Parts: sequence; C-alpha cells; structure tokens
Amino acid sequence: MSGELIGSETARIDGPAKVTGQAQYSADHTLANMAYGYVVLSTIGRGTLRELDTAAARRAPGVVAVYSPFDPLRLNPPPQGFGENFAALQDRRVRYHGQIIALVLADSFEQARDGAALVVARYDSDTPNVSLPAGMPGANPPTRQGASPARSTVLAAGVDSLKTALSASTATVEATFTQGAQHHVAMEPHATVAVWRDGRLTAYTGSQMPPVHAMSLAVQLGIEPARVRVVCPYVGGGFGSRVVSWSEAALAAAAARELDRPVKLVLTREQVFTAVGHRGAITQTVTLGASADGVLNAVSHESDAVMPAVGGWPMLPAQDVSAVLYKTPNLAVDQRLVPLDVPPTWAMRAPNEAPGAFALETAMDELAVSLDMDPLQLRLRNYATAVPGTTRPWSSKHLRECYEVGAERFGWSKRRARPRGRTEGQWLVGTGMATAIYPAGRHPAGARIRFHDDGTVTVATSTSDLGTGATTAVAMLAADALQLPMRRIKAELGDSALPNGAPAVGSAATGSLAPAIRAAAQAAIQALVNTAITHPDSPLHGRQADEVLYRNGYLRADGSDAISFSALLTLTRTSGAEAVGNAEGRTGDGEHAFHSFGAHFCEVRVNRFTGEPRVSRFTTVVDVGRVVNAKTTRSQLVGGIIFGIGHALLETNPMEASGRLAAGNLGEYLVPVNADIPDLDVHWLDHPDTVYSPFGARGVGELGTVGSAAAIGNAVYNATGIRIRDLPITLDKLL
Ligand code: MOS
Repeated sequence: MSGELIGSETARIDGPAKVTGQAQYSADHTLANMAYGYVVLSTIGRGTLRELDTAAARRAPGVVAVYSPFDPLRLNPPPQGFGENFAALQDRRVRYHGQIIALVLADSFEQARDGAALVVARYDSDTPNVSLPAGMPGANPPTRQGASPARSTVLAAGVDSLKTALSASTATVEATFTQGAQHHVAMEPHATVAVWRDGRLTAYTGSQMPPVHAMSLAVQLGIEPARVRVVCPYVGGGFGSRVVSWSEAALAAAAARELDRPVKLVLTREQVFTAVGHRGAITQTVTLGASADGVLNAVSHESDAVMPAVGGWPMLPAQDVSAVLYKTPNLAVDQRLVPLDVPPTWAMRAPNEAPGAFALETAMDELAVSLDMDPLQLRLRNYATAVPGTTRPWSSKHLRECYEVGAERFGWSKRRARPRGRTEGQWLVGTGMATAIYPAGRHPAGARIRFHDDGTVTVATSTSDLGTGATTAVAMLAADALQLPMRRIKAELGDSALPNGAPAVGSAATGSLAPAIRAAAQAAIQALVNTAITHPDSPLHGRQADEVLYRNGYLRADGSDAISFSALLTLTRTSGAEAVGNAEGRTGDGEHAFHSFGAHFCEVRVNRFTGEPRVSRFTTVVDVGRVVNAKTTRSQLVGGIIFGIGHALLETNPMEASGRLAAGNLGEYLVPVNADIPDLDVHWLDHPDTVYSPFGARGVGELGTVGSAAAIGNAVYNATGIRIRDLPITLDKLL
C-alpha cells in the first residue's frame, strides 16, 4: 500500500468540514453565559499612562468590567523568549504604539466595543526610538540606557581577513538591502475563548504548538501547566504569528477567572497588527569577492535587525543562508540586533532565511552581471558539497539537479543576458533566478495510535494543522504504517492534552511526525498482538508474540486463520489497543547537515510607461526528500512563492516617527491577490533522505519563500536594468 498512498494527490480530509462551515475555529466557540472582551490600544509610542477615564465605559449598556493598569488582572510575564517580556495591564508604562492598555468586558461583542470607545487615556509622552538607522552602529549614540546595539558575530571562517580576500578578488560587489516591517496576516485574527472548570482552564486558541502555549499560559496565570489545556483542531494560518501566545490569550483567561464566566476575546484585524508580533525591519549588507571566472573568494553578510525592547525574534538572516550556501574560503557573518521602542516582532515565513536569501541571492546576481557571467553558471561554479569551513556534507543534497531541471522546464537557455533585451508591446520582459535553502531540523515528536473494535483507527497528536494539511498528512502516515485505507483512519490534532507532537514550526511538523507515527504504529501493533496471545477468547491465545504477523489490519500465525483487529477486539471484548510512539529531535546528525534545497526561475514584465511590475512566469524545483501528499506539498510551495511575490513587490508597513505603524488593514498593507499570481510551475525531485529519517521526508513549507523575492528582483533588473535593493519593488522605483 505504501507506494500507492504516500506521494499521491490526497485531498484534505477536513476539507468538507471547512468549506461547509462546520469546522470550529477559535472564535467560533460560543458558550453559555459568555462575556465578550475588547481591547483598547495605546496611541503614543513611548511614555506613561497618566490616567485612564473609564467611568463612561463602566456605565455603558452591557459592560461588566474594565481592566487596566489602574485596575489590573493578575498576570505574570510570559516565560522568557516567548513573545513579550512583560504582562499586559500590570504597570502604566507605554512601551510601544498599539500596546494593550485596557480590556473591556460586556455581555456582547458590540457592547464591549462600544464601551471601549468610551475609554479616554491621558499620557505623559516620551520620544520613542523607532527608526532602524537611528539605532544602528555609526549613528548618533542613543541616549537611552540599554539602547546600544547588541552585536553577535556568529561565524568567521578562513584566512587572515576579509579585506585581504576582497583586495585579491578580480570582481567585488558590496550591496546594502533594506526592508520595512512586514506582517503575517494570517486569515484568522488572533482570538481566545477561555473557560474555567474546577480550577482548570480550557483555552480555544490557535497555536503552532499547543503544549507550549498551555505551559506559557500556566506561567502567566500562576498555575500548574497540567491545569491548562489549549485546543485548536482548526487554525486559520500561523506563518509564525502563533508560535508563541500573545496577551489576548492570557487576558481572556485571567478575565474569565476573575469574572467566573467564559470569555471570548477576538482581536480586530487592525489590533492584530500591533498586539501580535510582526517581522521587524532589517538592513543587510552583502559583500562578495570572486575571481574572473566566478570562483568566490570571500562572502560577508552583515545585518542590523529590529529587536523590540519588549521582546521579539532575533533575526539572524545569514546563519542558514550565506553561512551555508556557497563554497568560499573566506566567510564573515555579523548579525546585529537593534533595540527599539516598537511593537513586538516574531518569526515570520522563513524568518531569517527569506530576508537573508533576498540579500545574498541579489548580490550573487549583481556579481554575475559584473563578471558578465550567467547567474546560474555562477551558482554552479560555487556549489558547496560540504558546509563552508567544515568537511561536513549534507544528508542528501540534489540542488544541482534542481538547477538543471528548473532551467530546462523554464527555458533558461533562451534568456537574454542583457538588461532591456526583450520588449513585448508595453512590457519590458526579464528573467531571473535564485537559490532556495531552508534548515531541515527534526523536532521531538510523539503520536498515539489506537485500534478500535469497529475497525477504525485513531491517530492523535498535539501538533496543530495551520491549514497546511497536517491532519491529512498524519492520517496518510498512519494509513501507510498500518497498511489500511484512509477511510478507516481518524486523525485528531491540535490539543495540548494529546501526546506531545512536533511544533508546527520551522517547516518540520510532517518530517518530525513521520518517524513518530511509524514508532506508534509498531507499538500499537505490539499491543494488539499482546491482546491476541494473552486473551483466552482469542484464536491466537497461547501463541508467542513473534509467531504473529500483522498485515493490512489482520493478524495471522501459522496454522490459524487470519483475524481482523476489529474481530479480535470484539471477540475479546476489548474496546481498543493503543500505544504512543516517539521520535527524537535533531538538527543534524554530527556527520551531516540537514537542509532542503530548491531553485527558482522567474519571468517578470515591467510596464514601460507606468513602471508596474508583474510576475508572468515562475518555475520552482525543490529537493525535499520524500513527499507525503503531492496535493498539499504543491499548495505549500505555491503558498511560499506567493509569500515571495508579496515580499518582493507588495508587503511593507512604514513606521511613523511617533512609533505608529502606518497600515492597520489589508487595504493598506498589501498582500498578493489572485490577479497577482500567474500559473506557478512547481516541481519536486524524488530523493528520499533516509539519513534525515528512515521515512525520508524533509520539510517543505517555508522553502518556497526563500529566494523567490530575489528571483523576482533579479528578473526586474534583467527587464529594466534597474537594481532595486529596497523592498518592496514598487512602480515608483522603476520610473
Ligand atoms: Mo514558522 S516562521 O517557523 O512559524
């Protein structure tokens, strides 16, 4: 059965529930006697809340409570490194524009919203430090204590100095790349429905790792982790925004405890822009040196990334890109974090690698131009077979084949090397390419498999399905391991009470779960065999365990008839046989590095009169090991490329001097829509990576977004002769 199911195009098993509205997302939970929350956000970027007039709000119809720093809910800060480093409403400090400063609860959502509109805040304002250049080294030293940039030199391999290496190079490129704030904009806004029963909290809230959210909420609420359960069988997108929980979850839980009634707290789309972490601005400088025939002699990648004073994601764009991608004798990486008074940041859609690859892969294109060399040839000339600075090879690397197959599918050989070499009517047409790379770690993962007497099997794990198709992949993996048809498998996901599955983080859920589900299947089969040989009513009673074989849902031993597991469980009046299986986490195996690879080829059209850039063709070929579900793998890669189109052409949120992020809705923060997306040609190689795991499936999700923005920018250069190093590439920059 293995060959038929794994790798096939399998539709999502939860698709019908989703499209018929039966799937319950967090905010869909409605409980008896529930109160509704609505948060009030700060309108200054830094300072102190002098007073908060809540009298009118408290008198408003339906309002049951108003919490604020003057009337706080009891909350501890989240564990260190889990989002923000302070608890909401505990003190009067305003740390950023758009910070939660009050929570209004009422009998309906509308009453809570109207009550919140009546809250009046008065502040003592300070000037926030919000712009990246102002905090960067070389700028005027920030006056505020603790504002000096943190430096982290991660890696420097090779000879004497980079300067020496560069001066010995025939061609050098030094280029600085900038991009502003970006947002995950998951379709489902952040929402929590919190209900307490007997001192135990159940929180219906979207999470990329429910057990960790439960732990984090327990810390904030000051109770034992075992008393918190986080439930989210359906999640409307994560993209990193649900790796950690934000204040709305803790506030809903604390308010529900205080009021002794269930609380629903749903952030508005606008509130999500600041009450939830975003991707901070970053500036990167890549310096490359090469010989006349394109052999790299030096690679340097420096970055200055926003690190909010309130906590955030330490963006390290070079570590899994420039530090690993190309063979070079000299390599320097310097990744700095710049503390600023801005809303929290968090991991977003290949958090390090998407910005990092934009910088490196654009600089590589610039180097190819200066050498008058084909950019694909330049990549091949510097192909790494071991991690630079080491002799460590990869578990499985077929990037060369990605380049070759991609070039063939795209028709790269027909390319005009010279910019502005092709015009069709109003359109300047250009092509570009870039490499994709993404670390392929394995998280510790567990799953439980249970055989039922009705002939079905349940596979259960805390891992949540962010919309990626994890539920279907888990069912496929169980069906494959148990040699059963999909219709007999029920998959339960997204619940911290289930066995500790892999976090849906770092494109590693499926790759991590595959070995765990195999282990669970083996253990559950052993439990079934044990029932068969020990129960007096079993036809296999008295046999030795190693005499009994499991195949296709049947147990058999020499000289006796095969018996189905449902017949066995019925006959022995056993309701089920189950076991938990686990697989270890690993980021490499000592001898090998783990990464997934790919190559992007892109054609863009830039309007000669308006400067409007349009992506017209895109081919991506990836090497991700074994593919579990062809349908959702394609969706993942298409989604990643679409993120790349957003990154390259549309997505940015300007930071005003006040610390206010200018855009707070999808009319101003632009993401790609259908009309922006051509038919995407997505293809994968078939090289199971059995060093990574015996099953051989590595991660897919974020790979597609790494390098895709660079491929687009490189194609824009080829079309127009204009090199844009400040994202997004908007029409005004091309005129
Ligand atoms: Mo993802 S940015 O690893 O949640």
